[in-house]
Amino acid sequence: MRTYSAKYINVDFGMKTILGGGYYSGKGSDDKYGIPYAECICDFCKKHNIKRIVDLGCGDFRVGSKLTGACEYYTGVDCVEELIRCNQKKYGNDKIAFLYKDITDDELPDGDLCLCRQVLQHLNNSQIQMVMENIKRKNYKYVIITEHLLNNPKTEKNLDKISGMHTRLFLGSGVYLDSSPFNYETQKLACIPYDRKSHLEIMLVLLKRTDDR
Ligand SMILES: C[S@@+](CC[C@H](N)C(=O)[O-])C[C@H]1O[C@@H](n2cnc3c(N)ncnc32)[C@H](O)[C@@H]1O
Repeated sequence: MRTYSAKYINVDFGMKTILGGGYYSGKGSDDKYGIPYAECICDFCKKHNIKRIVDLGCGDFRVGSKLTGACEYYTGVDCVEELIRCNQKKYGNDKIAFLYKDITDDELPDGDLCLCRQVLQHLNNSQIQMVMENIKRKNYKYVIITEHLLNNPKTEKNLDKISGMHTRLFLGSGVYLDSSPFNYETQKLACIPYDRKSHLEIMLVLLKRTDDR
C-alpha cells in the first residue's frame, strides 16, 4: 500500500527547482548543515566499523554524497521515482545505489547503519510509527534519525499534522521519538545549530519501545 499518490509526492517532496531542473531537498541539506552532519556520521562509521549505509529519504544526495567515503556500500532510498532515476544515472556505481521505495511499507534494503535525516518531520504520526516498525523489521545494527527541532524546551512534542512539505515547526512542535506516542529509547549524538530558534538533532535510536516493558 502506498501512503501517497505519486503526484502528491512529486509536488510536495520532489522539490524540482525551476532553474536548472535539478532536484533540491531544501535548505537543511545545504553544506552549512550537511557538513557537520557528515562529520558526525563518518566518525560514527569509523568507530563502529560500518560497511553498509542505508539512507532513507535520501533526497538530492547532497548530504549522502558526503558519507560514501566512510562506508563500502551506500544505498539511498526515496519515494520520488524520477529523483531516484536521476540519482542512479548521475551517481550510481558498484558501491552507490538508489532504490525507489515508500519507506512506510516497502521492504527496506539490508545494511549495518540506517539513516533517516529530516524525513519523519514531514510525515503524520501514524506514518512515522509505520516507518519505525518497518525499520525494526530489518534488524539494522544502528539507526540514526535526524530531526529539525525548536530550541524552546517547552515545545509541545509530536503534535500530529497532515503529511506534506511543511513540518511541525509551524505548529511550534517537532518529532521526539523518545516521547508519546512513539516512546523509543534514544541517545543524542550531536546538535547542529540551524537558526536563532532551531537546531538539527542527531539521535541514535535503540529500537526498543520504552512502553514495551
Ligand atoms: C527534506 S528531504 C531530506 C533529504 C535528505 N535526507 C537530506 O537530509 O538531505 C525529505 C526526503 O524524504 C523523502 N520522503 C518523504 N516521504 C517518504 C516516504 N514515505 N518514503 C520514501 N521517501 C520519503 C522525500 O521524497 C524527500 O526526498
